Amino acid sequence: MKAPLLDLKAQYRAIKADVDAAIAEVMESQHFILGPKVEQCEHAIARYCGCSHAVGVSSGTDALLACLMAEDIGPGDEVITTPYTFFATAGAIARVGATPVFVDIDPVTFNLDASRIASNVTDRTRAIIPVHLYGQMADMDAVMRVAKTSGLVVIEDAAQAIGAEHKGWRAGSVGHYGCFSFFPSKNLGGVGDGGMIVTNDAERAEKLRCLRAHGAKPKHCHKVIGGNFRLDAIQAAVVSAKLPYLDGWTAARQWNARRYDQLFTESGLVIGDGSLSPAARDRSANGSRHLLLPRIVTDRHIFNQYVIRVSRRDELKAASTLEDAWSTIPCPCIFKSALPISAMRPARSPRVNGPPKRPWRFRFTQNSPRSKPGTWSTVFVISSAGTPQRHRPVRQRGPPMSGLRSRADARCTRRDRRHSQS
Ligand SMILES: Cc1ncc(COP(=O)(O)O)c(C=O)c1O
Repeated sequence: MKAPLLDLKAQYRAIKADVDAAIAEVMESQHFILGPKVEQCEHAIARYCGCSHAVGVSSGTDALLACLMAEDIGPGDEVITTPYTFFATAGAIARVGATPVFVDIDPVTFNLDASRIASNVTDRTRAIIPVHLYGQMADMDAVMRVAKTSGLVVIEDAAQAIGAEHKGWRAGSVGHYGCFSFFPSKNLGGVGDGGMIVTNDAERAEKLRCLRAHGAKPKHCHKVIGGNFRLDAIQAAVVSAKLPYLDGWTAARQWNARRYDQLFTESGLVIGDGSLSPAARDRSANGSRHLLLPRIVTDRHIFNQYVIRVSRRDELKAASTLEDAWSTIPCPCIFKSALPISAMRPARSPRVNGPPKRPWRFRFTQNSPRSKPGTWSTVFVISSAGTPQRHRPVRQRGPPMSGLRSRADARCTRRDRRHSQS
């Protein structure tokens, strides 16, 4: 069965009336850039994430860029991040002239291995950008501990993780900044490019508002050099119209993930989940069993992608029986080669080897199209947002996000105090 990467038409059909009305309202107003629709969207996203401020921007990439600019990070500075992410994370660091320093990932969650951060901090390190990849949060407790000890800024790349949660925190609300993307294929997508930055720091929010409009405040009075990072009213209106459905879609993705787990297990292909040690994994891999399921280690994985690991990717992809098996899975599937982690690690350990002879910047090497025997590749099995009958707005009981908000608020206040001391 041929299945598309993601069937956005099905989603649109299910909520067409809401989306069309939102767009029509903007057309009637002829107010296309920033303005009341963007402000409404900012309030809604800030509340959803348990943050006090949100700043709408032109994309997830520009969200990262604006945060780095707001912190005056530039040439000579280093920013610690993960090599296993979409290009934009490291691209934004390089764009401001700073050096991305890649710390390896935890192979179970695919997120930054926070225990390796401290040894890569130098006197040039200014920030950490953890990425909540595939919809599961990185170990933010550990990231914030290192950041606090070393006085670093934390910019969460939550482009794939809106609504992900751990220990009462929503993705984007733990660090100094949280960056989101409204690229159409994201769990909460617009009808073009768009993004959002959340923060609990009023001063930082104000600076971001200035930077997104060419550094102007008030209009035409340019205090700093910013960019055109403004969010369109149409994107904001569509995102606001979709937001009430998001929790229902997340529940459907989680349901799909459980169903994938069950079907893969029943297929007899599964060795275990991502927590299996490499030795046990390789020992157990044989002709029929060569697949590791995703492991959930946080409170709320939002499954932007359902990712399995396989030792025989090309065979799995090519096998006609697999196509039959795929057709029994009621969701679109796709294969994509993983970026080889080893090709993107820093060429040095700064503390051990001292400064590099040639400044090491970054290098992305795509996997060769065929996976090598004996290597383990990730396979993205994209979760659809579920069946149309699941596309119902989530009814909010009591004050929206009440439990989460109060917990987040309390911790935000404590965190604000910590940050202002750092
Ligand atoms: C992890 C991550 N960071 C950043 C981005 C950039 O977002 P955008 O495409 O909105 O610029 C993406 C988008 O795919 C992403 O997945």
